[in-house]
Amino acid sequence: MQHYLQFKDFSADEYAYLFARASLIKKKFKAYEKHRTLVDRTLAMIFEKASTRTRVSFEAGMYQLGGSVVHLTTGDSQLGRAEPIEDSAKVISRMTDLVMIRTFEQTKIERFAANSRVPVINGLTNEFHPCQVLADIFTYIEHRGSIAGKTVAWVGDGNNMANTWLQAAELLGFTVHVSTPSGYEVNQSVAGLRSSDSYRVFTDPLQACQGAHLVTTDVWTSMGYEAENEARRAAFASWCVDRTMMAAAAPDALFMHCLPAHRGEEVEAEVIDGPQSVVWDEAENRMHAQKALMEYLLLGRLA
Ligand code: CP
Ligand code: NVA
Repeated sequence: MQHYLQFKDFSADEYAYLFARASLIKKKFKAYEKHRTLVDRTLAMIFEKASTRTRVSFEAGMYQLGGSVVHLTTGDSQLGRAEPIEDSAKVISRMTDLVMIRTFEQTKIERFAANSRVPVINGLTNEFHPCQVLADIFTYIEHRGSIAGKTVAWVGDGNNMANTWLQAAELLGFTVHVSTPSGYEVNQSVAGLRSSDSYRVFTDPLQACQGAHLVTTDVWTSMGYEAENEARRAAFASWCVDRTMMAAAAPDALFMHCLPAHRGEEVEAEVIDGPQSVVWDEAENRMHAQKALMEYLLLGRLA
């Protein structure tokens, strides 16, 4: 049994399979062809933080595969009343086939997985957001082909998305140019990297974007860090992806944002709503990529 708790849980070869499978699943979806490989399987979705995309993509995706879902939040379950995560894992995994969790510390999802009889998927933690980067790289491949050897500029917080991009770079052979305000840097050990070979740090976000094939950013304040909002607004003021940064990137550079976005903060409206932006494809591709992921975790490779 395999879990998907961070990007490096799969090999480059497994990603090649998943991207090809997501592409097939997407084609069938667009052609209104049924693709029901998970009939009678049940996915439990546990949300300890808010969500739009993750919930809709997993829920719609699982129904399309012929399965069903159970939706739990902290507030409407015993998780909010201090039932141990280990006990919750034992119970939930006896009644369902697959579990997706969005929570705070990575250690919490690890404790759940250690006590689960079924595969567990990380739907975002403070440290990682592997399903998003899975969809983002699938989106890059659709638009531009292989990401190997390319340069991705990360402009903003050294957060869960940044850590996941760094793991992906190490695994899939591309480079990340990281620019964060001081005090919000990425941390190699938190990101779970083998070395610093696949990323370069820039104090100036414009320099990080020079020649990049993909420019990406995220909110200044992630869920769970709202108390730091004011300090972050001041610290991040120069980390707004604008037309000057996009002009410094490669001429055919793409812009990505996992969403939700704050126009005028981490990205200028002209960039996110402009011709280089593929944010709506990224959002849609969450569903196709996660259908491939759920199928893989439950059934392995299919012809
Ligand atoms: N990008 C993403 O995970 O969005 P949600 O918070 O809406 O799920
Ligand atoms: N870094 C953001 C991503 C939201 C999808 C957060 O954790 O809130």
